Amino acid sequence: PDSTKGKLLAVYEKAQLFYHHILMNTKAGEAALNYLIDRGITEESIETFKIGFSPPQREALKMYLENENLDDVDILKKSGLFSDREDDKFYDRFTNRILFPITDAKGQTVAFSGRIFLENGDQQRRTAKYMNSPETEIFNKRRILFNYDKARPIIRREGEVFLFEGFMDVISAWQAGIRNGLATMGTSLTEEQVHTLDKVTDHIVIAYDGDSAGLQAIKRATEFISEETHFSIEIAAFPEKMDPDDFIQKKGPEAFKDFLAHGRDTLMSFLMNYHKKEVNLDNESDQLKYIDKVLSELTRVTSAVEREMYLNQLSERFDLSIESLKEQLHGHIISSQ
Ligand code: CTP
Ligand code: MN
Ligand code: MN
Ligand code: MN
Ligand code: MN
Repeated sequence: PDSTKGKLLAVYEKAQLFYHHILMNTKAGEAALNYLIDRGITEESIETFKIGFSPPQREALKMYLENENLDDVDILKKSGLFSDREDDKFYDRFTNRILFPITDAKGQTVAFSGRIFLENGDQQRRTAKYMNSPETEIFNKRRILFNYDKARPIIRREGEVFLFEGFMDVISAWQAGIRNGLATMGTSLTEEQVHTLDKVTDHIVIAYDGDSAGLQAIKRATEFISEETHFSIEIAAFPEKMDPDDFIQKKGPEAFKDFLAHGRDTLMSFLMNYHKKEVNLDNESDQLKYIDKVLSELTRVTSAVEREMYLNQLSERFDLSIESLKEQLHGHIISSQ
């Protein structure tokens, strides 16, 4: 506790309690609380995820911490909770935002991500939707997965993990009863995060947003996960323009759970759909490109039965013999070795 890390953790703990108190018990937090309730977040979830609100005043946290005798300027600067000014005064980094605490594997708050919520307000136009704590001695963004501490025992029990993009996806899924969900927080999956997942499961279900950014991120994540060959991957591909949270709000928790249970694609069928979008299959030259692309992806499939299944699909779809498809596939296998 006397170390820099221990002191930073103590500051974040106090900050988390302060911001949560403002959200739940003060007039200043009312609009933020209403926003969350309107989005379907329950008070129970707000407690579970320790959500908070940073008031608009630029020295609210600073004054609170000083009153609590947490006034070590060096530590406050290192915390990333304040921004420096030229006149050597410093101000709260987070103002007027809903704060999602980001916790480490032990459940200790190590960072915040703050969301704006005044739709169409000034803030909306000027700044990013989410703003995060900077990297510190206790927060390494490449390593952290949102909700890992709470989801870990459930991932072990269920034998699989759901990877979402964002906070609201994890929290809405949690409310729907899906509690083995984590968020990569918008960035693509990192090697460090895969390493963390490897300790708890071999089965990853990617459930990113159904927009083009989401599709790209799924593609990158699958390439990356496949390098660690013992992982099995499935993809829950959400309808266009919907993320998991939108899906739950629109179709309800039962439909969501049903989709996650029965609506999964294999990696190969996801890739076949993905590459379809890059070409115009009415055009023969594009058909050849597409078939060749799919065959090159098929080299990653090691199960003979699975390969046969997709070769059959291609054969039927394009009226080609299995023999010629196999021959071209073997060409890819040889050149990839
Ligand atoms: N993100 C971020 N900074 C941004 C935008 C996004 O860190 N400027 C991260 C957040 O963790 C966010 C995730 O990326 O939850 C996914 O982004 P996006 O899909 O754009 O946001 P949603 O999670 O859908 O946010 P909301 O439902 O609150 O609008
Ligand atoms: Mn493993
Ligand atoms: Mn998104
Ligand atoms: Mn989203
Ligand atoms: Mn969303």
